[in-house]
Amino acid sequence: MENKEAYPANDAAQDVKDSSRRNFIKQSTLLTAVALTPGTAIKAAADHIDEQIAAVFEKMPLKMQVNGKTQNLSVEPRATLLDILREQLDLTGTKKGCDHGQCGACTVHVDGHRINSCLTLGVMMNGRKITTIEGLANGNQLHPMQEAFIKHDGFQCGYCTPGQIMSAVACIREGHANSEHEIREYMSGNICRCGAYPNIVNAIQEVKDGGMAV
Ligand code: FES
Ligand code: FES
Repeated sequence: MENKEAYPANDAAQDVKDSSRRNFIKQSTLLTAVALTPGTAIKAAADHIDEQIAAVFEKMPLKMQVNGKTQNLSVEPRATLLDILREQLDLTGTKKGCDHGQCGACTVHVDGHRINSCLTLGVMMNGRKITTIEGLANGNQLHPMQEAFIKHDGFQCGYCTPGQIMSAVACIREGHANSEHEIREYMSGNICRCGAYPNIVNAIQEVKDGGMAV
């Protein structure tokens, strides 16, 4: 009779099957062990899990400089830098788009380098210098990149704009703004749903070509 199997079996597929079988047996054994464990042992295990969960919520001290100002905070270990900036420090210029490192709306500078703050745990920022869009201007004097975005209509709804500007400044500092192609490549982590890309590129090129300090 004709063999209807779509793909021939191979060693890798067999390894996966063996591994699944081993995991299944391990889990069954664990469940049986739990069923045979005296109540006190189960309670001890449950208490241990409670302690571990409580540790996740227990606040930790965090000292960092944000836009030139030292901040002494108490944060949950699981809190992201983005949430700390927005919810504890009221710096809502930094936007939450995807919250998964895919849109760039949350871009800030840490010690001068751009990062996605939604992917960064706040407790990792102890002793670091953070700059958000609120810290880019010099008093009432807008940063040259902010001026250029306005001049070139580098935004429509504006939701992505703080992240775009923070990334644009870093892009020039990194030396990655030498051509339209390069700018598009190194700005590709910042998504604009309004499609303001050509104007954003123009703004970056103007600042780069003007040799303005960023
Ligand atoms: S909100 Fe951080 S990358 Fe989208
Ligand atoms: S200006 Fe609207 S998402 Fe970029």
